Amino acid sequence: MAVDNWSERRLAFGTAAADYAAGRPSYPLDAVRWTLPEGARTVLDLAAGTGKLTERLLELGLDVYAVEPAAEMRAALPAAAHVLDGTAEAIPLPDVSVDAVTVGQAYHWFDPPVALA
Ligand SMILES: C[S@@+](CC[C@H](N)C(=O)[O-])C[C@H]1O[C@@H](n2cnc3c(N)ncnc32)[C@H](O)[C@@H]1O
Repeated sequence: MAVDNWSERRLAFGTAAADYAAGRPSYPLDAVRWTLPEGARTVLDLAAGTGKLTERLLELGLDVYAVEPAAEMRAALPAAAHVLDGTAEAIPLPDVSVDAVTVGQAYHWFDPPVALA
């Protein structure tokens, strides 16, 4: 990656979208089920990437909002999800509109005080 700045690096995943989709492992379905609260139906998968975790959430029959800032990553997300452009710091959904939020291997790219709010 040619950029040095953290703010630019964290939003530069799109250049590797194809390799990412092809080479990155998925998540065990039982582990994903275990993370969700009882009765959850609508889930936000934040920093969804190419949809490794999004696909698992869909397999569980959930209504999934997949938020991802990199256009090339978003293009690979499953059509069965509601795919939205956004970041953890500017989530494009109303407050209290989902039952759970998942983040798969991406929290380290967030600005925690802003994202947690
Ligand atoms: C390591 S990938 C993980 C993708 C996916 N969750 C998975 O498990 O395959 C990290 C993702 O975080 C996204 N990302 C980076 N900074 C972000 C931010 N501030 N808000 C939301 N997503 C961000 C990147 O575009 C990238 O798609």
